[in-house]
Amino acid sequence: MFIVLGVTGGIAAYKSVMLARAFVEAGHDVHVVPTEDALRFVGTPTWEAISRNPVTTSVHDDVPEVRHVALGQRADLVVVAPATANTLARMTAGLADDLLGTTLLATRAPVLVAPAMHTEMWEHPSTVHNIAVLRDRGVHVIGPESGRLTGTDSGPGRMTEPDGIAQAAFALLGDAPQHTAGTTDPGPATTPLPAADAGETRAILDLDGISMLVSAGGTREPIDPVRFIGNRSSGRQGVAIALAAADRGADVTLFAANIDESILAAADAHPGIVIVHVSSAADLEHEISVRADGADVIVMTAAVSDYRVDGTSDQKIRKEDHPDEAPTLHLVQNPDILKGLATDRWPGQTIIGFAAETAESTEELLERGRRKRARKGVDLLAVNEVGWSSGFEQEQNTLHLIDAHDDVLRTVTGTKRQAAEGLLDTILRVRAR
Ligand SMILES: Cc1cc2nc3c(=O)[nH]c(=O)nc-3n(C[C@H](O)[C@H](O)[C@H](O)COP(=O)(O)O)c2cc1C
Repeated sequence: MFIVLGVTGGIAAYKSVMLARAFVEAGHDVHVVPTEDALRFVGTPTWEAISRNPVTTSVHDDVPEVRHVALGQRADLVVVAPATANTLARMTAGLADDLLGTTLLATRAPVLVAPAMHTEMWEHPSTVHNIAVLRDRGVHVIGPESGRLTGTDSGPGRMTEPDGIAQAAFALLGDAPQHTAGTTDPGPATTPLPAADAGETRAILDLDGISMLVSAGGTREPIDPVRFIGNRSSGRQGVAIALAAADRGADVTLFAANIDESILAAADAHPGIVIVHVSSAADLEHEISVRADGADVIVMTAAVSDYRVDGTSDQKIRKEDHPDEAPTLHLVQNPDILKGLATDRWPGQTIIGFAAETAESTEELLERGRRKRARKGVDLLAVNEVGWSSGFEQEQNTLHLIDAHDDVLRTVTGTKRQAAEGLLDTILRVRAR
């Protein structure tokens, strides 16, 4: 594979020598594109010797090869490590006054960035904004980690070690690494990270350390021992969110409301997911409320019945017991679980609701979504259109993601896994605020 390794001007540039070597040793064609500042940290001879390819920073070298766009066009993957605050800002603005800038604009390959900087720079609103914009465009971000920084400082901002970046890069290429960075002998093959659907492998552990509760499926409100009031929610979208979050490093508890075993199987087998089976709205409320305090993010995709039967019959209701007229079911309102979670949330906890709505137009759908988000008080509401033939029991989904300012932050369309990845990216964006 053709890998472009962008290197920018931070001390961590020396670690990217190991990264370049890991790529070369795994059999990839590696083209290092440093910035001018990066060359003050590690020089051209080192990059050329390690990558075995010529290295330049300028768009004016190798003009007959149209190098300023050729590298980006040919790339299967572009990795920027370390990515300085300056380069992240330049990427966000789309600046193209050096070879790395033109390469990043000319590529349609996946882009993986490994930020490295002091904590103050990483937490500055400009950098927070830039990272959110880049994530939203589909750029993969790995790290930074917390630890020792340049000088005597320590805190969040340390570049992920080359081995971690290499694994994420290999996973994006759909490729298991042959060697790990820093080794010269062929070591044991590194275990590939958990795979998502074909073509959708995500290995960036950007939810590492996050505890997430996800509810999925549809509640059942008993009428008598054999009958219930239910809904058509299959649980596929919620299960896809749980799997995607766990693949990205989150500790997930999945509240499964009446989901078919075949849909739950992958979640059941995932080491990062604990499944709690629930049936009625009351079960769900109880199980989720005892765990809510420990969660960083709660995603409520389950279709929860607004009503339950007042006075469930202990015996089957029989026709012969009502010979003259049909029995009447008295319904009472269930507690609003989502609103309760949003009301009781602690600072830093993020609550996401789902709304399956029928509507004549997208405008009407979004208006209903905005009203529902305000009623529930959640940080983000994912609205999807449902009808007799759309939304339920399908592999595809469209989610409009409405934030607390009534803005549609993103509309994601695709498989339920792709919708899940888009939702998780947006949750990170909301949390970065
Ligand atoms: C010793 C030293 C270490 C630096 N380390 C970092 C760093 O880790 N991250 C960062 O964003 N900037 C760092 N800088 C500042 C960048 O080098 C500077 O912003 C530069 O303009 C980045 O250019 P580039 O993004 O084009 O490579 C450092 C500067 C010096 C002198």
